[in-house]
Amino acid sequence: MKIIKTKKKFLTNIYINSYFNINIFKKNNIFIIIDYNIYILLFSIFKKKIKKFKFVIIPFGEKYKNINTLKIIWKYMIKKNINKNFLITIFGGGVLGDIIGFVCSSYFRGISFSIFPTTLLSQIDSSIGGKNAVNFFSKNSIGIINNPIYIYINYNIIFFMKKNEFFDGYSEIIKYSIINNKKFFFYIYKKKNIKKIISRSCYIKSKIISQDYYEFNYRSILNLGHTYAHCIENNKIINFSHGKSVTIGIIFCYFLSSYYYKLNLNILKKNIFLFLKLNFFIKNSLFFSKKMINKIILDKKFNNKINFILIKNIGNCVKKNIKKNHLLFFLKKFYEI
Ligand SMILES: NC(=O)c1ccc[n+]([C@@H]2O[C@H](COP(=O)([O-])OP(=O)(O)OC[C@H]3O[C@@H](n4cnc5c(N)ncnc54)[C@H](O)[C@@H]3O)[C@@H](O)[C@H]2O)c1
Repeated sequence: MKIIKTKKKFLTNIYINSYFNINIFKKNNIFIIIDYNIYILLFSIFKKKIKKFKFVIIPFGEKYKNINTLKIIWKYMIKKNINKNFLITIFGGGVLGDIIGFVCSSYFRGISFSIFPTTLLSQIDSSIGGKNAVNFFSKNSIGIINNPIYIYINYNIIFFMKKNEFFDGYSEIIKYSIINNKKFFFYIYKKKNIKKIISRSCYIKSKIISQDYYEFNYRSILNLGHTYAHCIENNKIINFSHGKSVTIGIIFCYFLSSYYYKLNLNILKKNIFLFLKLNFFIKNSLFFSKKMINKIILDKKFNNKINFILIKNIGNCVKKNIKKNHLLFFLKKFYEI
């Protein structure tokens, strides 16, 4: 078993293994909150063991990531007499992690929780860093930063995922490889050792967060590709997954970077090759409008400035302020190429 231990008080140890070690539930006061699909998947293994604990099955999907779901779970927990002596244990992807992380952070002013992330995205991204939120008018608008007491990753469980959902997580891995260094960037082209890729990704995210937990500055490099991605996701015209939106967002950042920093085009070509290999399309046919640009500004809430993370080189990303009219110009150019 691989353990990513962190010395910083804000961070969480991450255990990476090829199976779920149920014996870690030494405490009897466990309240399990489990994603419906995972419950079905693990039913035969869990059936006997899970009965020992209080548990609840939650329906899956982004549409449940809202305040109503919070109310239902808070109510259920009160009814079941869940108190501070319980450890809430979450089995599911990023949606469940975000919801229950928020539930736990607010229930009786905070109750301990642990996460068993089951999607690739939740293993390498959403479970790390303590961000918990629900959608209210816009995505992740109501939330809190609070860490689980540990994260336990079973990297074999991701092979049950749908292909497109798996690739969605992979777009974040590609993002890490651009932020981190050339070694990891080239590693993911050749090697397919998923355990190594997951642990390296967890390490990169933990390291960045340990340097700027509350996102005053440096942590924002994790937003590479996300400014434009959120704009795509927020549109009501076409439904794009997060991973696809991030891919388009990253390519757009490459495009901006080649203008501002004369980025080496071979790197861009290599990245496009990988995206295509993974069946990502790299442009969207979305009609962009002033309304969409305003959405970007609102989304990031930075006094009307639009911050983009740009790529000077692999392993060297920087935050750049781009004026609204410049952005419009680049968007138009982007769709001409
Ligand atoms: N907190 C953060 O820092 C952070 C970072 C990135 C994304 N997020 C959030 O994460 C959410 C997306 O998470 P996600 O991609 O994990 O989606 P998800 O949680 O909706 O899971 C996707 C689907 O996969 C199913 N599933 C889960 N594990 C499975 C498995 N092992 N095999 C088969 N099916 C499985 C689920 O039931 C669901 O239908 C978004 O709401 C996003 O905002 C949060």
